[in-house]
Amino acid sequence: MILKTLPIIADEFNLQNYDEVYKQFDWSDAERAFSWFETGKLNLAYEAIDRHANTSKKNKVALYYKDDERNEKYTFKEVQQQTNKAANVLKDVADIKKGDRVFIFMPRSPELYFALIGAIKLGAIVGPLFEAFMEGAVRDRLLDSEAKAIVTTPELLSRVPVKDLPHLQYIFLVGENIEEKDKCYDLNKRMKEADRQFDIVWVERTDGLTLHYTSGSTGKPKGVLHVHNAMIQHYQTVKWVLDMKEEDVYWCTADPGWVTGTAYGVFGPWLTGTSIVVAGGRFKPESWYKIIEEFGVTVWYSAPTAFRMLMGAGDEIVKRFDLSSLRHVLSVGEPLNPEVIRWGMKVFERRIHDTWWMTETGAQLICNYPCLEIKPGSMGKPIPGVKAAIVDDQGRELPPYRMGNLAIKKGWPAMMATIWNNQQKYDSYFLKGDWYVSGDSAYMDQDGYFWFQGRVDDVIMTSGERVGPFEVESKLVEHPAVAEAGVIGKPDPVRGEIIKAFIALRDGYEPTEQLIEDIRQFVKLGLASHAAPREIEFRDKLPKTRSGKIMRRVLKAWELDLPAGDLSSMED
Ligand code: WT7
Repeated sequence: MILKTLPIIADEFNLQNYDEVYKQFDWSDAERAFSWFETGKLNLAYEAIDRHANTSKKNKVALYYKDDERNEKYTFKEVQQQTNKAANVLKDVADIKKGDRVFIFMPRSPELYFALIGAIKLGAIVGPLFEAFMEGAVRDRLLDSEAKAIVTTPELLSRVPVKDLPHLQYIFLVGENIEEKDKCYDLNKRMKEADRQFDIVWVERTDGLTLHYTSGSTGKPKGVLHVHNAMIQHYQTVKWVLDMKEEDVYWCTADPGWVTGTAYGVFGPWLTGTSIVVAGGRFKPESWYKIIEEFGVTVWYSAPTAFRMLMGAGDEIVKRFDLSSLRHVLSVGEPLNPEVIRWGMKVFERRIHDTWWMTETGAQLICNYPCLEIKPGSMGKPIPGVKAAIVDDQGRELPPYRMGNLAIKKGWPAMMATIWNNQQKYDSYFLKGDWYVSGDSAYMDQDGYFWFQGRVDDVIMTSGERVGPFEVESKLVEHPAVAEAGVIGKPDPVRGEIIKAFIALRDGYEPTEQLIEDIRQFVKLGLASHAAPREIEFRDKLPKTRSGKIMRRVLKAWELDLPAGDLSSMED
């Protein structure tokens, strides 16, 4: 096999020869990057931290942390020691063993990252929860997973309904003046006293790593289980798609409560030995630009909603910062409007690279690589080792330009292992022919680029015309008055559905009849007359998930006066 000798995973390789690699690549080629390829001993935490801490990288900064009060940095050696201490505390106090569920529910801070990797060193399954979750959302997740321990803060403890959670035995608090009582322990104090040495618990590739809960269109949130095997794809995509190099300083703006924040906020970059920046606190355009300037961020992974907010803050403020360190900018979570790409070109002089994947897929699948020509509005092409297609509801592949289910052939390394306690739900993701069906509708063009059209259930049928809400939303945000737009199909006795747009205006614009007419004309002329919203309603803010997707089902619920369903993933 000549292939095995090709430098598929070498640093200098960045998919220049995409077509060739796509044909030849096999995931087993990527395994040589890991120490377990030689030793047979496997744990993601070892590959992410300890391996580097035992080499010349030990004094390289692994983590830069900054918020309003703290500005700290930790080398790989220091992170190794801190995560060993965290692991020792979890083991000695709570007897955490392989497979136990440990939740982490706290704002971003170095301690969050130490606890996360520390728990993984024990072989525990970590459930990261976003700090904004309220009690009901916390209860659902801890109950469903039968969590044994949680790491949280005194402030957030009131949202952990301890008495309703029979399996929850240990609560580790991160804060000042912690009183140790009623299952509560002071994590910092205990870590100070703990041993810096720890013998990592070795696991199987198929052992659990993280449990990320995501909301579907119906029912309670479901627990997506990822396993250690995912590291293969985390590593490889960080090389290929994030184009990470030794000297890069990387900032992923996602919180670890969401899969982007673990897979690409922590695991992937540390697997490649990269210095990461973690910014605490809330989104503010000035402080975001400041982070890039201060740390010399070179690779930046964020989301369309964030880019649009920066865009809304105006181009003047960009000029106050030196953003020249930026080399590579990427986006995930929802459609990246061409307008945002054009804006990125203007203010950063960088193309923003879209990437497509989902909580369930565990890692990036369809991407715009650094070397790929970008077609604005397209998600890019599947990474080598991944076969994507558009299939009909029977699992039959459709030809280019036909809209259908975006599906992926089963078997990529980071694919979810199961839905916790719900095999039936897991099975429902698959169609005949081993197709994983994403729930997104899309089409593929003749060059193999994939174009997102909407969630399957969001596609609008108006007077017999299929309209993808994303297309309309993209057009709407090109209008100078529009900051954000969400588009739904509203039932109509004559047309089946009509298009209704909810719009948040940019500062300085007033909602007038004239403006409505102007916006409608803008879409009519810019896109298609049947795509122009017949109804427009202005709102101060639109409902969005934490990963930035406009929650159209909430818009629909507003419109039809229906219950909005599970809102735990909604940003506040
Ligand atoms: C859904 C998954 C794991 C990433 C964070 C969101 C939408 C994701 C894109 C993209 C258009 C996208 C899809 C997908 N989505 N990336 N590049 N272009 N849509 O993960 O919360 O599990 O959501 O986000 O609809 O199905 P998630």
